[in-house]
Amino acid sequence: MKVLVVGGAGYIGSHTVYELVRAGHEVVVLDNLSTGSAANVHPQAHFEWGDIRRKSDIARVLAAEAETGTPVDVVMHFAAKLIVPESVSEPLAYYENNVEGLRTLLEALVEGGVRSIVFSSTAAVYGEPTSSECHEGDATEPINPYGETKLACERMLKWAAAAYGLDYCILRYFNVAGADASLEIGLDKDRLTHLVPLLMQAALGIRDKLLVFGNDYATPDGTCIRDYVHVTDLARAHVLGAQHLLTNRASVLANLGSGRGFSVKEVVDAARDIFEVPFEYAPRRPGDPAKLIACIDHARETLGWEPEHDLHSILKSDYDFRRKLMLAHRPQAERRCGGTEG
Ligand SMILES: NC(=O)c1ccc[n+]([C@@H]2O[C@H](COP(=O)([O-])OP(=O)(O)OC[C@H]3O[C@@H](n4cnc5c(N)ncnc54)[C@H](O)[C@@H]3O)[C@@H](O)[C@H]2O)c1
Repeated sequence: MKVLVVGGAGYIGSHTVYELVRAGHEVVVLDNLSTGSAANVHPQAHFEWGDIRRKSDIARVLAAEAETGTPVDVVMHFAAKLIVPESVSEPLAYYENNVEGLRTLLEALVEGGVRSIVFSSTAAVYGEPTSSECHEGDATEPINPYGETKLACERMLKWAAAAYGLDYCILRYFNVAGADASLEIGLDKDRLTHLVPLLMQAALGIRDKLLVFGNDYATPDGTCIRDYVHVTDLARAHVLGAQHLLTNRASVLANLGSGRGFSVKEVVDAARDIFEVPFEYAPRRPGDPAKLIACIDHARETLGWEPEHDLHSILKSDYDFRRKLMLAHRPQAERRCGGTEG
């Protein structure tokens, strides 16, 4: 298949491009490089600078591909703003990029004759779930503008699909981490609200210690439980999602996690098999539910997807990638690296 990956120069998009290329598919990436980097794009994928909020950028790429005799079969859409605190301080920028961006993209796809779209959504659409395992049919009540924009996009996709004969695969990610096995790509920026980047900073001496927010939750060791999924497993789910759309012409909405929960303390203990992590307990953060685990039965059943990487593999690949980056850019930082290699 030929796939247009919008946002394919970012973290998850670039991993999906690597998986698509490995599986022998043709890939075109469109990205405005606002948070991504052209260096993340697989050398066998074709890169075009463009912005999804400008219909002419998307139309230009679709027309050029159609002229080659093999038009784009499916679009994968990763191009979004996704920093929760920023979405609270700049909600209109989030609506403009995420919601207006999807609206423009869909208009271009309808006019360009592309019927299938795989869309990156998030567990943030659930808000503060009342049950510890999230199912796709659960109530969606986002508690921040980022989650609201993603839910608005999901709803737009459903209405547009019904009206214009599109099919969609909406994938709601839980906690994504890890790096490609090649170590050519990984998360090269710091998401300071996410546990794994914070843990890596503590391991690599970029911060003194990891602060573990709350050890008095109603969980076995008192720390919050989350569901971690390796970015390569996530990428593979997108390939399966696109194939499902092209084969069955039936829309899907599915959670992507590992289906298993690990407490923050368990993640720190697992990391200690690979490197040292100084940590300290701190008071709870507002809005952190005690337990958040994905039910992934639907992705298993409809896409035939099964996560292959465990927590150790997530942490090890993330650490190896960051360490490689540090050694390439800041050799002096190596002396501060307090870890042992696993
Ligand atoms: N990383 C996570 O933990 C996580 C969790 C749940 C959902 N998601 C979703 O996954 C998707 C990808 O996230 P990521 O972590 O790879 O983020 P990222 O910032 O690394 O990648 C986003 C990419 O989209 C590009 N982009 C943004 N706006 C654009 C626009 N208007 N036009 C063209 N390109 C644009 C950026 O330059 C970047 O390359 C997002 O939609 C996000 O909401 C991510």
